[in-house]
Amino acid sequence: MGSYPFCSRSPTVNVPFLNPAAQFAALRTETLAAVEAVLAKGHYILGPNVAAFEQEVAAFCGAKHGIGVNSGSDALTLALRALDIGPGDEVITTPFTYIAPAESIHQVGARVVFADIDPRRFTLDPAEVARRITPRTKAIIPVHLFGQAAPLHDLAALGIPLVEDCAQAIGARCDGKPVASHGVLGCLSFYPTKNLGAAGDGGMVVTDDEALAQKLRMLRVHGIERRYFHDIHGYNSRLDELQAAILRVKLPHLAGWNARRAEIAARYDAGLAGLPLQLPETAPGNTHIYHVYALLSDRRDELQTHLAANGVPTIIYYPQPLHLQKCYADRGWKTGDFPVSESVSRRILPLPMYPELTDAQADHVVAQVRSFFG
Ligand SMILES: Cc1ncc(COP(=O)(O)O)c(C=O)c1O
Repeated sequence: MGSYPFCSRSPTVNVPFLNPAAQFAALRTETLAAVEAVLAKGHYILGPNVAAFEQEVAAFCGAKHGIGVNSGSDALTLALRALDIGPGDEVITTPFTYIAPAESIHQVGARVVFADIDPRRFTLDPAEVARRITPRTKAIIPVHLFGQAAPLHDLAALGIPLVEDCAQAIGARCDGKPVASHGVLGCLSFYPTKNLGAAGDGGMVVTDDEALAQKLRMLRVHGIERRYFHDIHGYNSRLDELQAAILRVKLPHLAGWNARRAEIAARYDAGLAGLPLQLPETAPGNTHIYHVYALLSDRRDELQTHLAANGVPTIIYYPQPLHLQKCYADRGWKTGDFPVSESVSRRILPLPMYPELTDAQADHVVAQVRSFFG
């Protein structure tokens, strides 16, 4: 989601939009010890922390294998490569998300096909996806946006392999099962502001498929199984040992942090009830982990300005859907092609959301939203 901080200059109460350093403050001693142990040992690339963290994350996601890579973006690209997707192939994804899934399709030389989203949970609409399937469709990338699973059951029923983008949804569940374990491959990001965030970039692919896992292990290290023997064209995309050590300190806290996010969401829900806003909805069978708590307002820009002036700076995810981005100008997409994504982009407003947000801060946010509506 790009860079963070974002403190307003309000003279009174200030609620930072994001606060990734708060977790370091809480886990300072363990984190510094883990970092020091790595530095002292000298095994800096694909060491024991990466191996252990891969197993721990795979278990957390209910999958057999985890392959640590350099970022969530690389996780997606390598996942598509592992499935042999390339020129001549099509992959369907959403235009209302961070650009990484669409970018990964482009990176492997395949064609990006967008399908519009559901207006209530902001994830792929299976009926829209179904309309866009052709004989060239090799995969669907559902994005579990803002921490809530896409309709995995209906998407799986379309009979095309699912590569789940779980960058915003580690710990979320769909029909009782963790995301990342429904599709053939699940892709995670440890970008610092994610629910499980590193102190830098990091990502992982999880899967039950041994052959795909082995191919991913080769792809991330220049296509080798044996050093200096390159069997396939690969990448340099390894999860860093230092990041793995830091993430291992954090992982045991993730379920608790996700639960605290849900508590804050419930506080927002109760405080904002009755206002002319669309509040987040959790689909039946889903467990939402509230990576983002976003409301919809027809007066979004005015509301954002009001909040900023009152100690609540916010960032819009996402102000322009992907089909209208300049980098896709050659595809000829235009306004009106994906109307739900366009309408949500104009009206969406995320509120501050992280486990360290206090009840008093959440109440201040609520009070400022309420004061806007008088
Ligand atoms: C939905 C989604 N997919 C993929 C990514 C890419 O992750 P990363 O920033 O680790 O490359 C992000 C994140 O930033 C994301 O929000």
